[in-house]
Amino acid sequence: MLLLMLVAATTLRLCPLARAQPLCRIRTVRTGKVFHVREQIQGDRLYSSSGTTRLMKHPCKKNIALYLGRQVFLTKNSFESSLLPFSIPTSMQVGIPEVTSAHFAGSVLLLVVNRKVYVYDYEANSWNASTGVEHPVSHISGDNCCYSGNSFCMDISNSVFAYLHGDQISQANIYFSNTRGYRFQKYSQERQAELVGSLGGIFYFYSLSQVGLLLVDQRKAMFGYSDHPLNRSFGLPFDYNGTLEILTAPGQKGILIFWFEKSLLVSRNAGQLVNPVQVREGQHILYSSIFEANITIHNVAANENELAVLTRENNLYYGSLGILSSSLIKFADQNIWSEEAVLMFTDVGMLEILTPLPDSTFPAFDFQKCPVNIQATLMDPQLQVDVCKVELLQGEFENKMYTIDMNSELELTALMIPRPGTSPVPLVMVSNPHSLGLQAVIYEDGYTYDGDTKHRVVSSPYPYPPQTRINGRGARP
Ligand SMILES: *[C@@H]1O[C@H](CO)[C@@H](O)[C@H](O)[C@H]1NC(C)=O
Ligand SMILES: *[C@@H]1O[C@H](CO)[C@@H](O)[C@H](O)[C@H]1NC(C)=O
Ligand SMILES: *[C@@H]1O[C@H](CO)[C@@H](O)[C@H](O)[C@H]1NC(C)=O
Ligand SMILES: *[C@@H]1O[C@H](CO)[C@@H](O)[C@H](O)[C@H]1NC(C)=O
Repeated sequence: MLLLMLVAATTLRLCPLARAQPLCRIRTVRTGKVFHVREQIQGDRLYSSSGTTRLMKHPCKKNIALYLGRQVFLTKNSFESSLLPFSIPTSMQVGIPEVTSAHFAGSVLLLVVNRKVYVYDYEANSWNASTGVEHPVSHISGDNCCYSGNSFCMDISNSVFAYLHGDQISQANIYFSNTRGYRFQKYSQERQAELVGSLGGIFYFYSLSQVGLLLVDQRKAMFGYSDHPLNRSFGLPFDYNGTLEILTAPGQKGILIFWFEKSLLVSRNAGQLVNPVQVREGQHILYSSIFEANITIHNVAANENELAVLTRENNLYYGSLGILSSSLIKFADQNIWSEEAVLMFTDVGMLEILTPLPDSTFPAFDFQKCPVNIQATLMDPQLQVDVCKVELLQGEFENKMYTIDMNSELELTALMIPRPGTSPVPLVMVSNPHSLGLQAVIYEDGYTYDGDTKHRVVSSPYPYPPQTRINGRGARP
């Protein structure tokens, strides 16, 4: 059985602008503090090690998120209530309750606390220490597949790696779990012992059916892959100027975001090519990288299609994670940055700047929120954002998962309505050209009630015969 992954892209462009009105209006969430019931914090209060603040959203469960900073907060309602700082039961005996990495795997939250892996089932409210990890680890990585009811999809959410960032790759202790982190086994990649450099991370890239190992050597990094045909060479080397945080954009499209204070890079093909994100003004490239733009990144948020960056200089930058290129535009100045602030996409085109507020009379923190309506902001003519050339692009395959066998057929169709007077060309791609071929046709298909032409895009992916195909696992169209 073969699963496939397809990415349909449009010529949708960012549509931007700067303006005098505030970017967002602040509100504060404060709940449950009318009665003087003093809740107590039980256990050891967790904190994040890096001295920076991070926010992790559950890719499949919209309202579940983890805030990592000087305090840690776990919310099940998008921070719509005041919260006690998150803690780990003293019975877990973690020692120093310092969190270096966290990951949602289905219905559990995995945390690396004091170099060990712990599992918190937030539905059952139960904690377990992972078994099988015999060396200190600092990081965990994994992905989530949100198309429920499919066993391939379940496998994706169950699979997790644990490792020590910065270990010498040749002798690095890497662990793999297919039980959502409850039990780990030693993992090693073929010819790992011959590799030179330190370990920058390890990821299962479902869009390519490969495990990618990030090798870091003297301010350059590149991915080594596990399986034929990519195991013959490496991905192209890219600048590794600081310790890069690596985000996997949701949706199994192979989009990766790499960042630290002075660097921001994006890959659209699971690390084979990694490029710096440019900074634009209108159609103009102002800077070819964040380094050149001399800005200091405080926090980065991404969803399936969008990227937002908050800088210490108090600016918000926004860009789309398009198939063709990634660039950021700067939104109007507003006093939005603080050491505790993080960015969170609440929906497509809706971004929130979130800041926990301590309360001198209650142990529970309140949350300050400043919601930014990206679409409305982009309408500002000063941002000189190009108009979108597409009024509608819709495929019935969106958010669905299909499987195809050898010699079987699959046909996927999408409807596109171009903006009058424009003629965008849709681009249909497969994420793993080593195992899937593709035919795509586009034809006019009548008119809308408004008289706009409808276009139908039909793509027929087909698996390559086994002798030319590699391990054919992937995710979804
Ligand atoms: C979690 O720990 C409890 C008690 O320590 C044990 O009974 C249970 O089997 C563990 N759960 C898993 C999934 O390993
Ligand atoms: C690549 O992987 C295939 C199996 O997936 C293996 O047979 C082959 O020896 C590997 N090649 C290298 C250069 O490691
Ligand atoms: C890394 O740093 C060098 C200078 O030290 C700079 O030229 C390069 O652009 C930086 N790369 C990135 C991706 O920021
Ligand atoms: C970079 O920004 C800092 C402060 O924002 C400034 O002091 C410095 O001169 C800038 N460097 C360059 C090369 O523009």
